[in-house]
Formats: sequence, C-alpha cells, structure tokens
Amino acid sequence: MKIGVYPGSFDPVTNGHLDILERASKLFDQVIVAVIHNPQKKGFFSIEERVALLEEVTRHIPKVTVDSFTGLLMDYVVSKKAQAVIRGLRAVSDFDYEMQMALMNNKLCPSVETIFIISCPQYIYLSSTKIKEVAILGGSINGLVPKHVEQKLIDKIRNTNKG
Ligand code: PNS
Repeated sequence: MKIGVYPGSFDPVTNGHLDILERASKLFDQVIVAVIHNPQKKGFFSIEERVALLEEVTRHIPKVTVDSFTGLLMDYVVSKKAQAVIRGLRAVSDFDYEMQMALMNNKLCPSVETIFIISCPQYIYLSSTKIKEVAILGGSINGLVPKHVEQKLIDKIRNTNKG
C-alpha cells in the first residue's frame, strides 16, 4: 500500500492545495493531509477548524484522510508507515526552502522520498497568507478557495471585527 503524507499549515486550505491533493491521490493508495500543530504559532483558524475545513472539501476524494501532527514530520511519516512526503511547488522562490526541508528530511529518514508536484499555472500566485490578507481587507477571494472555506473566512473576519 503506497501512502503519501501531504503536510502543511493549511490556514486555510486553498484551491491550489486541493489541486495538488487531487493529483497526488492518483499516485498513492492513500494520501494523509497532515496539518502541523505548532503550539508556539497562533494561526488564523485553530487546528480543529483547519482539519474540519479540509475534511469538508476533500469529501469527494475517497483516498484522502485528514490528520494533525506535532513535532518532527519524519517521526509522523514513519508512524503512519508512509513512503513519501508530498509538497506542491509554485515558483522558483519556493525552491530553496523546499530543497532545504527535503534534504533535512532525507538526512533524518533516507527511506522516505519527497515528491514535488508543480502547481498548475492558475494557482501559482496563491497562498493562504495572501488569501487571508485580501479577505481581511474586503477583497474578493472568489475562485481561490472552495466556497465552504470562503464562507468560513468571511464569518470569522466578521466575528473578529465584532469582538
Ligand atoms: O505549509 P507550510 O507552512 O509550508 O508547511 C511547513 C511544514 C509543516 C511542512 C514544515 O514546517 C514541517 O515539516 N514542520 C515539522 C518540523 C520538522 O520536521 N522539521 C525538520 C525538517 S525541516
């Protein structure tokens, strides 16, 4: 059974992430989306909210399961008996950071491969950070995140502004 782990912050999941997931699911028997839980870093959405959003928007991909993890990614990957880490690559600017991580992960656990999937051109400029920035400033994020995520983002911004 070929298992791939797709790790990330997913704060929140974007259409770019979904595209990578849909394509990765054709290469593996199971893909585990693993949301990093870093207690030192406060996100926009809580870990539980991010996991719930991912579960909702990946319902149509049966091979995908959603989980969260703390600590070293490689420890998590080994505990899941996965053979590979999946990462999306958008632009050359991603490359340095991704190569550093892939090489460090390879040093920690040489039996696990990092597989890069190149983002499709329409999502190359997308990031969770930019989406939050635009949404917070009242811009349209239509078509950049799934509808369900768009609504939750708008609700959260509205609630934050109220409080
Ligand atoms: O979506 P992101 O924020 O680019 O994801 C980064 C992530 C979660 C893949 C990365 O921060 C990570 O793997 N963190 C776990 C800590 C770890 O294993 N560090 C050592 C290897 S570089």
